[in-house]
Formats: sequence, C-alpha cells, structure tokens
Amino acid sequence: MSRPDDAQDYTPDESIEWSEKYRPKTLARIAGNNKPVSDLCAWAKAWKHGMPDKKAAILYGKPGIGKTTAAYALAHDFNWEVIELNASDQRTAAAIQKVAGSASRTAALCGGIRLIVLDEADNIHGNADRGGAQALGKIIKDTSQPILLTANDLYGVSQSIKNLCLPIAFRSLQSRSLIPVLNKICQNEEISCDIDVLQKIAETAHGDVRSAINDLQAVAAGKSELHVEDVVTSSRDPRDTIFDALKKIFKGKDIKEALNATYAIDETPDDLIQWVDENLPAQYRGADMTRGFAMLSRADLFLGRVRLRQNYRMWRYAGAIMSSGVAVAKSREYPGARFMPPSQWRRLKSTRTSRQIRDAVSEKIGLACHVSQKYARLNVLPFIRILFSNSDYAVPLAARMDLDLDEIAYITGSKKSTKKVKTIHQEAREMIDGETSEHIETFGRLGAYEEGAGEVAGAVRAEVRVQPQKPRKEPKKEEKEEKEEKEEKKPQTSLFDF
Ligand SMILES: Nc1ncnc2c1ncn2[C@@H]1O[C@H](COP(=O)(O)OP(=O)(O)O)[C@@H](O)[C@H]1O
Ligand SMILES: [Mg+2]
Repeated sequence: MSRPDDAQDYTPDESIEWSEKYRPKTLARIAGNNKPVSDLCAWAKAWKHGMPDKKAAILYGKPGIGKTTAAYALAHDFNWEVIELNASDQRTAAAIQKVAGSASRTAALCGGIRLIVLDEADNIHGNADRGGAQALGKIIKDTSQPILLTANDLYGVSQSIKNLCLPIAFRSLQSRSLIPVLNKICQNEEISCDIDVLQKIAETAHGDVRSAINDLQAVAAGKSELHVEDVVTSSRDPRDTIFDALKKIFKGKDIKEALNATYAIDETPDDLIQWVDENLPAQYRGADMTRGFAMLSRADLFLGRVRLRQNYRMWRYAGAIMSSGVAVAKSREYPGARFMPPSQWRRLKSTRTSRQIRDAVSEKIGLACHVSQKYARLNVLPFIRILFSNSDYAVPLAARMDLDLDEIAYITGSKKSTKKVKTIHQEAREMIDGETSEHIETFGRLGAYEEGAGEVAGAVRAEVRVQPQKPRKEPKKEEKEEKEEKEEKKPQTSLFDF
C-alpha cells in the first residue's frame, strides 16, 4: 500500500520504532508548523548570500513536535553536511570548542556549508556546564557556518545565547494535523483502522507527534485491524489503575488482590489513603464504615511514622492496612457508587487554577511590556482589560501574547465558554497560524517601542510560550467549540472530570 515516493522518505529498517522509521526526511513532510518551517527556510536561504544577521537559530517548543526532525530535514533539503553535538555529556567547553569551533571555521570538505546542530541546547546549564554555554556563545559569534539549536524550554537557554539566535517557535500539533501523520503510517504498515481510532490517539497525545506514533505502535502491535476499544485498553492513564485498585478494595474480598492492586498503581500510600478516605463513606454503611475508618486510622499511624522517621519500609504496613484491611472491613456487598477523587485535591486544584491563570496572564503581559509580573498585574492589566473590550485590539493582543482560552476569559471577565472569548481565541490562533501575522507585527510596536521591536516581539512570544506552567489544563481543541461547550455543561461522567 505504501506510495513509492514514501519509500525513500522513510527509513526502511523494520526493527526500529515507528517514530524513527517515519521521521520525515524533508521539510515538506513535516506536519503542521508551516510558519516556523518557512521561517527556518528563509534563514537557511539567507546563507546562500553570505552570512545572515543571526548566524544561529533556535527551534523551540514542546517535545515531539518536529524540532530535531526539522534541523536534519533542513540540512537534507539544502544539501548541507551536518555536524552534530548531541550527547549532553559532551557539553563541556572543550568538546564544544573542538567539534563546533573547528567545524564552524573550516569550510566543508567539498566547499559546501556545514550545519552545526546542537540538539536540546536547554540542557546546557548548571555550574559544571557554564563553560559550555560560554563556549557556545563564542562559537556563535565567531562562526562562519550556520548553527541550529533546539530546545524544549527556552528558559533553559542563557540570555546571552538567546540574544545571538533567531528564535523560531514550534507549536504542538492540533489533532487535525496529527491524524494524517498517523493515517499514513497505518497505510504503510497495512493496518486498517477507523478514523475514530486515530482521532482518539491524536487527542490523547496533546499535540506530541512522537508520543502519538508510539501509542499507535503500541496499540497496533500484532494487529492488522484497529478498533476504538483497542485504544482504551492500551491507554496510558495511570489514574485508571487507581480506579482498579479502589474497585478491588471496596468491591472485592480478596486480601491479596487488594494489596497487589496497591503495588500496581502509581500512587504512594499517602495519596492512596486520601482516595480510600474520600470514598469510604459512599461505599460502606454502618458498622462496616466504622471498621473501615478504624483501619484507615491505623494505616495513618504508620504513615505518620514514615514521615517522622523517614522509614519508608513502614509504607508496606500502611498500604496493606488501607487496602486489604478496608477490603475485609465489610460484612456484605454494597451497590456500586461512583468513585470520587479526594475533595482536598479538587479544592487545591481549583484554587491553583485561578491563581495560575492570573499569574500566567500577568507574566505574559509583563514579558510583552518589559515590566515585572506584579507591576503588570497591578498597573497594566486594567488597561489591557479596557483594550480587550474592542476586538480590533483584543485579537492581535491575544495573538501577540499567545493567550489561551482561560487567559482570555480571565482578562475579559467572561466565561471561557462564551462566544466572545472563543472568537477572540480562535481569531488569535488564526493570526498566529497565518503565514505572516501582519497585525502582530503592527501591534508589536505597542509594547516594544525600543529598538528591534520586531525581534523583541518574536522573543516575547518565544518566552511566553515555554513558560514552565504547572499542569493547568490546556484548552485542548480550540477548533472544537461545540464539544467544549458540551463539556462545560455536562455533569461528571468519569472519575477524573473534576
Ligand atoms: N511535525 C511533525 N511531522 C511529522 N512527524 C513528526 C513531527 N514532529 C515529530 N514527528 C515524529 O516524532 C518523532 C520525534 O520528533 P522530533 O523532531 O525528534 O521531536 P522534538 O521536537 O522533540 O525534537 C519524529 O521521529 C517523527 O516521527
Ligand atoms: Mg529533539
């Protein structure tokens, strides 16, 4: 089934992982990310006419979205030789000097251009490697050859290096761009599957192509036909297993099974006890509940000793009592009640979310306006709010600061499910995705009135996008407005909708 032209684009080795096997060899085959890829091309083309302004470019963005792939595909398309600096243990000043220093000064053997690739450049940090970062800075200044860095987290790259590089942001892929990638692999592997299988895998991957491909390979192992149920069983949600463990504890009577379930899960006894504690009153009645809580209180004693003495061997007693102990505390079977996550977590989560949104918004404004987060929150945010009442300003601003749905909702004071918020968000996305975001550039002047405004605007977007945010739920599929609307109204349907 494979198309003949695909054959040469992919590595034919059967034994390797699909994510490697189907790593695009050319820029044209990279899915999504049209704008960054064309920026990268433009930078590379400039080398044909001598040295460009920025001799290094840095491709940054979340893992598994094609940064490393793009670096090598670029070299392939431009017929450049690649000098790679990969292993982080090589990253001493001396190694960087030795490999990149000489490579950057000497022309390639055939007189062509050599591309120096430093993958995961954000790994150069800490005291031990400081020399490495310095050496790299020097090399970028001295080089006569193009240098391409990649980074998951721009914050891991020192400011001095960032200043020397053209920042190129790679974005996580939307499901609609990911599905064709998966589909093509299925065709090549002669696996038949429905679109909903791929849809599901794509959604679980949250834009990470590598993990989507890995998931597909895991689901497809030994199969020539895939059904949507296959994806459920091999889904890697660790919280599925806590659900299983709770079932064995509350519904089962087998001491061993209940205990084993606690070994199989990803939670520590400290977390598990909260789950059991939360659910016990809903699962058992009367004397059984009392006995259950007596078990939990004993388990808690051991947890206290673990904390006090730092003796983690006692976890096993705590774990056994809170699982097997609670399992045998019941004298009869109870009808199934839905398991709930610890309410304490729900509370924490909800407060964390609103605070996080506020901080994220302030930080983005701060970065765009070159002021501190606090100043942004207290003094700039009110003006931004006023500007947001006019959609001519709201959209370019949201694009410029790369605001997500939550953040736009926070600024406008409207709910995230409202049409207003969604429209601003959608139009901002389109503006970002658009080939040349004229408005962003124009609007860039608002905050960046200093020299190099265009670059600053780019850098700001660069920094903004890689903020190390805690797992606040990303607005997953902004294109799926109706779905989101449904989700908003829907009562809890699964254990984890909290
Ligand atoms: N945009 C993309 N288009 C097609 N495949 C991709 C894309 N991004 C990642 N992949 C797949 O995921 C694998 C890992 O991508 P890679 O470029 O190494 O990610 P990273 O952004 O972490 O450097 C690749 O081998 C390829 O199979
Ligand atoms: Mg990489």
